[in-house]
Amino acid sequence: MPLLADDAPALPLDAQGILELAARSMFQLFSSVSQGMFLVDRSGRIVWVNEGYQRFLPDLGFSSVDQFVGRTVEEVIPNTQMRRVLETGQPVLIDLLTNKAGTFVVSRIPLRDDADRVIGAIGIVLFDHPETTLQPLISKFALLQRDLDDARRELASQRRRSLAVAGDGERRSKYTFASFIGSSPAAAEVKRQARRAAQSSSPVLLLGETGTGKELLAHAIHAASSRASGPFVSVNIAAVPDTLLEAEFFGVAPGAYTGADRKGRDGKFKLADGGTLFLDEIGDMPQSLQAKLLRALQEGEIEPLGSNKLVPFNVRILAATSRDLASLVREGKFREDLFYRLHVLPVRVPPLRVRRSDIPALVEALGEDLALRNGTAPPELLPDAMALLAGQPWRGNIRELRNVLEQAVMRSDSQSIDAAQLERILREAGVEPAAPAPVQDPGHAADAEDESRYLRPLAEQVAELERKAIAAALKAHGGNKLATARQLGISRATLYGRLENPE
Ligand SMILES: Nc1ncnc2c1ncn2[C@@H]1O[C@H](COP(=O)(O)OP(=O)(O)O)[C@@H](O)[C@H]1O
Ligand SMILES: [Mg+2]
Repeated sequence: MPLLADDAPALPLDAQGILELAARSMFQLFSSVSQGMFLVDRSGRIVWVNEGYQRFLPDLGFSSVDQFVGRTVEEVIPNTQMRRVLETGQPVLIDLLTNKAGTFVVSRIPLRDDADRVIGAIGIVLFDHPETTLQPLISKFALLQRDLDDARRELASQRRRSLAVAGDGERRSKYTFASFIGSSPAAAEVKRQARRAAQSSSPVLLLGETGTGKELLAHAIHAASSRASGPFVSVNIAAVPDTLLEAEFFGVAPGAYTGADRKGRDGKFKLADGGTLFLDEIGDMPQSLQAKLLRALQEGEIEPLGSNKLVPFNVRILAATSRDLASLVREGKFREDLFYRLHVLPVRVPPLRVRRSDIPALVEALGEDLALRNGTAPPELLPDAMALLAGQPWRGNIRELRNVLEQAVMRSDSQSIDAAQLERILREAGVEPAAPAPVQDPGHAADAEDESRYLRPLAEQVAELERKAIAAALKAHGGNKLATARQLGISRATLYGRLENPE
């Protein structure tokens, strides 16, 4: 079939007519392919909505078009950015809008008269439920958003510090032990272990599921250590391409490469000099680099790429992984010798589900943090909402809890949040909500039950028992080691050995 029928009328010759036709065709196209459109006048009042848009009205809290049309756009569409378009005259071709009706991909285009004055704007909902249709894009966006948040926070705290202490170092830790919320037995125990690790200069290995607070604890350990005034530098090994990791770690000597890197570049070991280097996701390290890292740790020296020179470093290593490092060793994917070098002070960070009694305190702290960032009041969870949170398995741990709260804050137009809202958010994130559970006080027996399911290796439990027995006996004998050894039925040498190397 020919695209142009022979009897189709020709385009009118005058330019104005063509433009009008083009505009009308575009308008009709968008109106039919988009999920909905509306128009506002220059004062931001809604003057028209198309049929597609009408199905969003119930979720926005309106039962008829008459209630919607005539109101100002902010009044009826929470979080809208339409006002900016009217004020600046600049279109926003693509944006994400989240409010109580959901998350939408939207366009906003100013309307101009013949004298080029902005006389209104058109809002287009290109997609609704992008969390299903645009999933890959959205998760990438969420990741970038998080990195951006972190970078902003870092920058803000640097500014604060540089105001306080002009010319002070710029790489510092963001958190202290006070930032680690939780008073359940499991939380108290991990804090105790981490505090002890801060007193030592040996490597620390933080083990635990994703989102449990390993990175937060790494910052806190640095801040409580004797290196607190030195830099805190981190590398996320999973986020750097394998081929770039060596340069990232050890740096590049001047002249080793042509082009941008000609001048050479400091590696993270150099940047962390006098401070702490945090190796995040160490289980993802390629084998070739494992060998080089091991050598560096053994010799206390690094070799920048292309330099042939060994440079001593003074850095304390903290490492973390969400993988089962011991089984990676068994499978031959992680070097056993490197494992033992790093496994000097292991700290197991418990999943949120073994410390459910910390959920109310976490909700409060995370809610306040979100409110500060968004310039809103902190959310208030109704009792049914809190019980729902207490019952979830939280595979993404505190990071997941934080994301759920953030969505709830963004979407709710009142401060109080109920269980139904949270259920919807969980479902949209692909999680089938579990049944609500009673909200417990910290340290309630329910935590202990959960904890018993999270059994630690026997060797670790035995070592802990031993440590406690020795400490108690030492105390009972006023620090007298001979009497302590005698009472415990061990030799003095054994006692000294245990005291020197308590793990
Ligand atoms: N105990 C805690 N108290 C308050 N916030 C926490 C706690 N643990 C984790 N968080 C927050 O949860 C998120 C994930 O923590 P993070 O340290 O990055 O986890 P991991 O490194 O184990 O994946 C961060 O926003 C962190 O600030
Ligand atoms: Mg992490």
